[in-house]
Amino acid sequence: MSDKETLILAIETSCDETAAAVVADGHVVKSSVVASQVNLHERFGGVVPEIASRAHVEKILPVVQEAMAQAKAMPDRIAAVAVANQPGLTIALMVGVTAAKALAWAWQKPLVAVNHIHAHFQSAMLEQPDVLELPAVALVVSGGHTSLYDAESCLDLRLLGKTIDDAAGEAFDKVAAILHLPYPGGPSIEKVAKEGNPKAVAFPRTLLDKESLDFSFSGLKTAVLYHVQGQDMKGENKVAAMSRQEIADIAASFQAAVVDVLVEKTRRAVARVGAKTVLIGGGVAANGALREAMEAMTTREGLALMIAPKRLCTDNAAMIASLAFYKYQAEQFAAMNLEPKATSD
Ligand code: KG4
Ligand code: ZN
Repeated sequence: MSDKETLILAIETSCDETAAAVVADGHVVKSSVVASQVNLHERFGGVVPEIASRAHVEKILPVVQEAMAQAKAMPDRIAAVAVANQPGLTIALMVGVTAAKALAWAWQKPLVAVNHIHAHFQSAMLEQPDVLELPAVALVVSGGHTSLYDAESCLDLRLLGKTIDDAAGEAFDKVAAILHLPYPGGPSIEKVAKEGNPKAVAFPRTLLDKESLDFSFSGLKTAVLYHVQGQDMKGENKVAAMSRQEIADIAASFQAAVVDVLVEKTRRAVARVGAKTVLIGGGVAANGALREAMEAMTTREGLALMIAPKRLCTDNAAMIASLAFYKYQAEQFAAMNLEPKATSD
């Protein structure tokens, strides 16, 4: 380990992963430890905040210790302690924020606060920092967020549009529940959809008729529910009686509707700001159909595309450390009275 490297220890507890990472110079991942709580939330079909918070309290110190040990980093070599303080479940964020403040205070290091959404598209640049052509349009598609940004730099972002109801990942999770597929819904729907016909059911492409760059996915989720339950919503969920092929067709058609909207809105955002590059991050960015469609669109439009590698799409602390490096360089430090925040600034 070179003495010239700037090492950042970052902590992430905004939802259902307890994560810590040590990253050098914003781009060399020395360690990235993620303790997933999926098995705790599975039977509820979604994240239960109280359970998430308690699991973070249990896991946070072992996860931080493991990240420091894997990186072979001693506290005196850490330049700053970073933490995702927004947006997310407040009682979950609170655990990471408190741990980061305690470590920064004990080690006498600066504290850096990171916006979790902004960090998601940092994961697209994490391993290839030098190929970014700006300005870029950044799309973050996760369980909690679906947002488009105009990015002049990783620290200079302007929100262009966001979901007005459900996030794309949330729609995947809810539709998976309707189709009796396992949680988390995104990977299960993707798997089943591989055997289905994406044109079998004409689900709505919401808000595509408007100029707005906002998204809406709750109507699509309701359309899937109507499809399996009948228009009056009094019918029974017929999934149990459906063939494997019928379920695969619904999954593929739903996935195609989400992908079409994400690709078309991103294309419009690019045209509006005159961007050269598209950056994509967040859990849903792991979806193969979305990755292929984005590749096709950016090739057609002559744009550079940077999508987070699949292993960095879902929540992790390496992306927090990477963005924190730039904030550290710009001396954008947080005060010791930093608080968690449910919504994004
Ligand atoms: O970014 P993330 O780990 O957490 C949030 O910040 O929300 O994203 C989790 C979301 C879940 O809704 C999950 O169903 C979705 O990402 N997801 C996927 C895939 N893998 C994860 N959605 C579609 N296709 C996937 N392969
Ligand atoms: Zn996330």
